[in-house]
Amino acid sequence: MRMYDLIEKKRGGGALTDEEIDFMITGYTKGDIPDYQMSAMMMAIYFQGMNDKETLKLTTAMRDSGDQLDLSAIEGRKVDKHSTGGVGDKTSIALTPLVASVGVKVAKMSGRGLGHTGGTIDKLESFDGFRVDISNEQFIKQVNTIGVSIMGQTKDLAPADKKLYALRDVTATVENISLIASSIMSKKLAAGADAIVLDVKTGSGAFMKNLDDARALAKAMVTIGKGAGRDMFAFITDMDEPLGCAVGNALEVKEAIDTLKGKGPADFTELVLNLACRMVMLSGIETDEDKAMALLKENIANGKALDKLAEFVSAQGGDSKAVYDTDLLPKANNVYELKADKDGYITHINCEEVGIASLVLGGGRETLDSVIDLSVGIVLNKKCGDKVSAGDVLAYVHYNDDKKKEDAVKRLKDAYQIGDSYNKTKKVIIDKIC
Ligand code: URA
Repeated sequence: MRMYDLIEKKRGGGALTDEEIDFMITGYTKGDIPDYQMSAMMMAIYFQGMNDKETLKLTTAMRDSGDQLDLSAIEGRKVDKHSTGGVGDKTSIALTPLVASVGVKVAKMSGRGLGHTGGTIDKLESFDGFRVDISNEQFIKQVNTIGVSIMGQTKDLAPADKKLYALRDVTATVENISLIASSIMSKKLAAGADAIVLDVKTGSGAFMKNLDDARALAKAMVTIGKGAGRDMFAFITDMDEPLGCAVGNALEVKEAIDTLKGKGPADFTELVLNLACRMVMLSGIETDEDKAMALLKENIANGKALDKLAEFVSAQGGDSKAVYDTDLLPKANNVYELKADKDGYITHINCEEVGIASLVLGGGRETLDSVIDLSVGIVLNKKCGDKVSAGDVLAYVHYNDDKKKEDAVKRLKDAYQIGDSYNKTKKVIIDKIC
C-alpha cells in the first residue's frame, strides 16, 4: 500500500477502506509516513469529507494507537462526560461528585488548559495538596471505594491524535467535523467508560460558533460512540456568554462549591443538573428522568453532594476543609470593581475577551510551561439581559498585579455591550441529541 495512492483516492472523493485507514494511522504514528503526506491527506479530507464508516474507523485506529484504560475492575457502569470547552466551564468540579453521591461510577481523565483559564486539573489544584498524577491502580481503587476520581491525561493516550492535531493546527485543517469528532472521541474511547455524555457548546465563546455546526459535531460524536459500542447522549448548550459568573481557577472552584450547596448561578446549576441527570440515567441507577433529577436535587439539599466533593478532594491529597470554608481557597490580594458608564441593558458579553482578561491576569497559560496564578480572575455581576444603571458594578476583577489589571479591565470593559433593550430569550440547554 502507498500513501500517495490513498491521498489521490481521497482527493478524488473516494472512501478509504478500514485497511487503508489502519495503514495510514499506524504508519504516521510510527513516523513511516511523513508530515507532508499526512498534511496533503488532511487537506483532501477537509475538502472531500469522510463518511460515517470512515470516521468511525479513523477514530478507532487513533484510539488503538496508544494506551487504553481498562476499567473492568470497577464495579458498575462507568459514565464519562466531555465538554467542548468554554469560558467559565467548571462543570466537572460540581458534576462528578454530584453524580457519585447518588452511586454513579466516575473514572475521569482531564487535561490542563492552554489559553483562557486553566483546565479542570488546574482548577482542582486550588485545593492545597490535590494530586492528579496518581497511578491507574489508585485511580481504580478510589472509584471503587468513593465512586469518583479524576486523573491527569496519560501521555500515551491516542498518540496518533496528538500528532495529527498538532499537524492540523498548522495546516489549516482543524475545522472539519469528521476530523474534530474522531479526534475528541479517540481520546474518550481510550479512557474506557461505558457511557458518555457530551456537552457541545455553541456561541461566540465556543469552538463551534454556529448552531448547525455544533449539531453536526454532536451527531458525529454520538454516531462514533454508538458505533464503538458505547451509550451516548449529547447536549448542545449555550456559550454566547460565560457560563455562571466566575472565570478563573479558584473563583470557579468556589462557584462549583456554591452550586453543590444549592447557591450557584441559575444557568450553571441548570446545566450541571441536566448533565448529571443524563449520567444517572445512562448508569442505569435510575432511568426515569424525573426520579433521577429528584435524587440529584435531594443530594444537593441534604449536603451529600458537597460531602462527596470533600471525600474526593481528600482522597487525592487535597485539603478538603476548603470545601466547607471557601476562604481557604487561593485568594487574590485586590479586587477592582468595573462599573457601568451608562444606563441600559447588557446586550452582549464577548466571551473570548472575558477569557483573555482572566488569562492576562495570570489565570491561564500562554505557553505549556506557564505557571498559573490560581487566585486571579473575574466574577461577573451582570450578565446578558440584566438591567443596569450607570455606576452599577458589572464585574469584580480579582488581581495581584496592577499592570495586568489595567490590561484586563480594558478588555473586560470592551467585552460588555450596553444597549437600550434586550429581547432575546436566553436558554442554557439548546438541544439534545441521542
Ligand atoms: N479538540 C480536540 O481534541 N480535537 C479537535 O480536533 C478539536 C478540538
